[in-house]
Amino acid sequence: MSGLFIAFEGGEGAGKSTQAGLLDEALRQRGYYPVLVREPGSTPLGEHLREYLVAGQPITPPAELLLFEAARAELMARRIAPDLADGAVVIVDRFAGSTVAYQGHGRGLDLERIKWLNDFATRGRYPDLTLLLDIDPAIGLNRVQSRQLSFGLLDADADRFEDADIAFHSAVRRGFQEQAAADPAGWQVIQGNHAIPDVATAVWRSVSPLLAGRNLRRESV
Ligand code: TMP
Repeated sequence: MSGLFIAFEGGEGAGKSTQAGLLDEALRQRGYYPVLVREPGSTPLGEHLREYLVAGQPITPPAELLLFEAARAELMARRIAPDLADGAVVIVDRFAGSTVAYQGHGRGLDLERIKWLNDFATRGRYPDLTLLLDIDPAIGLNRVQSRQLSFGLLDADADRFEDADIAFHSAVRRGFQEQAAADPAGWQVIQGNHAIPDVATAVWRSVSPLLAGRNLRRESV
């Protein structure tokens, strides 16, 4: 069995986590064996690094890059690779494409070096399909802010990336769009500003053809 590997990518407030959760549920209901993980995170080291990477003190861009890659190497070795070998449908909420977009296009680090590090951390195993939830950063950041307001979190939780300026987030968006354009077989772009059920329908339309003809594990956990 070699499983099926699906990644969600996109800027802040694009709806990735919501859609990854809905896809997980849809697969489970149909008797598949989905495993949902997030980056950075989903391992003890990854969750520890996530706290620092998202809300910690300022760090230099090269250090930031290496910490994301460390979290990825751990997640790939301990969760993604074994689950794929077990025939699971592995859904990742962000993956290597986020490093290209944020650390490459956003921070301006060298794209060739990032590619080398991504290959190293992933051991060359990339998603069978990457779904880019594309959204205007002004709308996405606004969504994030309303969510924080409704949870009474505004200003309480500094976030390294959400607090970056709009030029940074526009560069990140272009970084995602360029990756999708360069690999139309591996990436699909879905408009993230539509209603949640409509985006979920588009996601299912992209994922369901990949389920047929694969030897996927069928019982749910
Ligand atoms: P989120 O997935 O909850 O949005 O938070 C993760 C943050 O980390 C998000 O702002 C994007 C950022 N990030 C990078 O800058 N590079 C990466 O490689 C990954 C996985 C995430």
